[in-house]
Amino acid sequence: MRTLRAVVDIEVMDDFPVKGMDAVVFAVGNARQAAHYYSTAFGMRRVAYRGPENGSPDEAVHVLESGGARFVFRGPTRAGTALGAHVAAHGDGVTDLAIEVPDAVAAYRYALAHGATGIEEPHVLEDEHGKVTVAAIATYGETRHSLVDRSLYDGPYLPGFRAADPIVAPPEKRYFQAIDHCVGNVERMDEWADFYHRVMGFTDMAEFVGDDIATEYSALMSKVVADGTRKVKFPLNEPATGPRKSQIEEYLEFYGGPGVQHIALATNDIVASVDAMSAAGVEFLRTPDSYYEDPELRARIGNVRVPVEELQKRGILVDRDEDGYLLQIFTANVQDRPTVFYELIERHGSLGFGKGNFKALFEAIEREQEARGNL
Ligand SMILES: [Fe+2]
Repeated sequence: MRTLRAVVDIEVMDDFPVKGMDAVVFAVGNARQAAHYYSTAFGMRRVAYRGPENGSPDEAVHVLESGGARFVFRGPTRAGTALGAHVAAHGDGVTDLAIEVPDAVAAYRYALAHGATGIEEPHVLEDEHGKVTVAAIATYGETRHSLVDRSLYDGPYLPGFRAADPIVAPPEKRYFQAIDHCVGNVERMDEWADFYHRVMGFTDMAEFVGDDIATEYSALMSKVVADGTRKVKFPLNEPATGPRKSQIEEYLEFYGGPGVQHIALATNDIVASVDAMSAAGVEFLRTPDSYYEDPELRARIGNVRVPVEELQKRGILVDRDEDGYLLQIFTANVQDRPTVFYELIERHGSLGFGKGNFKALFEAIEREQEARGNL
């Protein structure tokens, strides 16, 4: 009796249960080439395709996976499509952070009852592999959240897609196996954090609480909202006033409004992944040597599984909190516009997002400046 009661209480508490990220969906100018890049440079495996050959005359869609991470690339096959207009306005970018839910109808109803704007009413897609129920709600900018229940489906992606061969042979060892978090750049962070609280019952994660000391240097404010199980994590950035134009302002200008800034990919061997991806032409941001050589920072890094020299060679950052540590690195933008980029993250206990690195990096730069007499 007691056990039953406890189970019921948990279910009642979770107003908006989620299973995890279903997919990150991109609108791109050329999905065929994007699929090639993510296959060769990110080690992903193409698993499904839909295009003019199988019932989709206006767009080609390539679906790629790496472990539990799924990326979907949509490209227009002709002029005059809404997808093409989106790409013209925003450049290549993320249109949909799709969330897998146990019940898409209930999730959609809950979201709309709490103020979300519906984009697609729940509907059932069906083929010989089974049924998928899909609905979609709007979030910041022109981004949406599809709500996907695929519990009755065993096809390669969604009904209408056919299985597709990998574009190149995938690497023996994956470069990443899951989506860790997806970050949005918005104009009003609090408004969107509140949106996720209301509409999805998400709660704030401890690390970033809006006004942070790091903002003094990095000119951004950040909050992280996540579902109760912490499977879906959405940090939200807003530009902060600083002496220079913030990276968030630059994004908003070049993307043409709010949108997805970076996607963090979970890896269990960040050194091997950085080496393989660098060799394939992925550009990673450099980290000043002072970050590794500075005694204060060295003390902060403490004991990690990789020798500091190996981290320094690649520019991998370390952050630490009471739960453990994490290793992380950021890529340069992956398209011509200064908009979307990636993060590789290897967690060892820490549930954070690298807050310590904002401050540590900027302080290290300032110490170098000071050494040159320029501060
Ligand atoms: Fe991140």
